[in-house]
Amino acid sequence: MASKKTFSDTLSPAISLPFRALEFPDFQNLRFDIYQTAKLFLAHHQTSHLNRDEQWPARCFEIGWEKYYSDQYEETGWQKVPGGPLFDLQNLALHPAACALHYAPATFEGSKAMISAKGRIVLFRPEMNAQRMQFTASRLLLPKVPVDLFIEAVVQTVLANREFIPPFRRENWAWETRNPMCTYVRPLLFGHGPELGVKPARDHLFMVFTSPVQSYWPIHGIRVLVTDYFHRAAPGGTGNVKVIGNYASGLLPSGLAKHGYDWVDGKPRKVSDEPFHDVLYLDAVHNKYVEEFAGANFIAISTDGALIVPKSDSILAGNTSASLMQLAAGEGWRVEKRPIAVDEIMDKKRIAEAFCTGNAAIITPISEFYYKGRYRRFTPEKNIKTRRLWDLLVGIQFQMLDDPYGWVREIG
Ligand code: COI
Repeated sequence: MASKKTFSDTLSPAISLPFRALEFPDFQNLRFDIYQTAKLFLAHHQTSHLNRDEQWPARCFEIGWEKYYSDQYEETGWQKVPGGPLFDLQNLALHPAACALHYAPATFEGSKAMISAKGRIVLFRPEMNAQRMQFTASRLLLPKVPVDLFIEAVVQTVLANREFIPPFRRENWAWETRNPMCTYVRPLLFGHGPELGVKPARDHLFMVFTSPVQSYWPIHGIRVLVTDYFHRAAPGGTGNVKVIGNYASGLLPSGLAKHGYDWVDGKPRKVSDEPFHDVLYLDAVHNKYVEEFAGANFIAISTDGALIVPKSDSILAGNTSASLMQLAAGEGWRVEKRPIAVDEIMDKKRIAEAFCTGNAAIITPISEFYYKGRYRRFTPEKNIKTRRLWDLLVGIQFQMLDDPYGWVREIG
């Protein structure tokens, strides 16, 4: 009888890396490509006390898969992987039926580590990422990574890759010359056990890797196509959690938009010779209210100076967006969380500034919207309020300003 494979058997040995090596310390050409960092954190969760062939199907019918499954999360817990949890960056061996490859029980988080003005290695609100990963996990019937384990994994990975954190340069962080370089931190949780039927995975991997990056989009303003054909998410779906499939649905619309195409009368139509940097999605029920981008939230500032954040059950709860709401309230601005109709953002008399925001996007001003043959143009250089928020957020993140809310965590 073939001996049962342990998890460590399924990890491929350290092999040649598929990623482009970073020509350290040249950080000049960074964008959001994968650059090699050295170490990867891995932890494993397994419902291994079940006998796969006998108990699982039987108990599954007996007590219902959902209840059964959630009970097991608590019982089995997370184990550090044998020989780990820190490994040299390497490929993973996955079974062809690995659940995440088929049914997408998989979620990731995005945060950044930076060297601050005080020369410290800092994280920004990592507990929010940990909590959001738990929220997503409960939607996908994945086991919840404990907040402590999540943060420990992020800290260990960042410190093990510390030489890949770009140095702090004050001039990079002036609004006019923004050149924001950081180490991107990517925690990932997915069901890797083989499952051919649609059901929750039994084996799960949680990992963290890092990669030095620069701003996600051009910082001086992006051109945005508002689509009335494609939708990112529907009510009751997974738009409000960070599921990998949410990003898949945006690939075609943003790919078309990057070539200047909208979708009109059932087919792609060229509407601009210039590329659009990204697509803004409307709600799937009324096709009227602004939701978000595939990879970032949307925020507007009204002509009377209020911060307006779209409200919908199918928008991802953004850590940066929540932080900006708090900063704006602290500045004494009116903060409104409510549905925003696309007609409102196209109306000069109502909306003065607009930006996309997120961990990667930070705050990226929108220079123009295109919507069904109409343009709405902004002048990002005159975005006084956007700039104020950027100064506050980045000032706190990089310890150039005091941190009144205790958001920054020094780890080295
Ligand atoms: C982030 O902002 O960190 C994200 O996860 C979005 C991704 C498109 C880069």
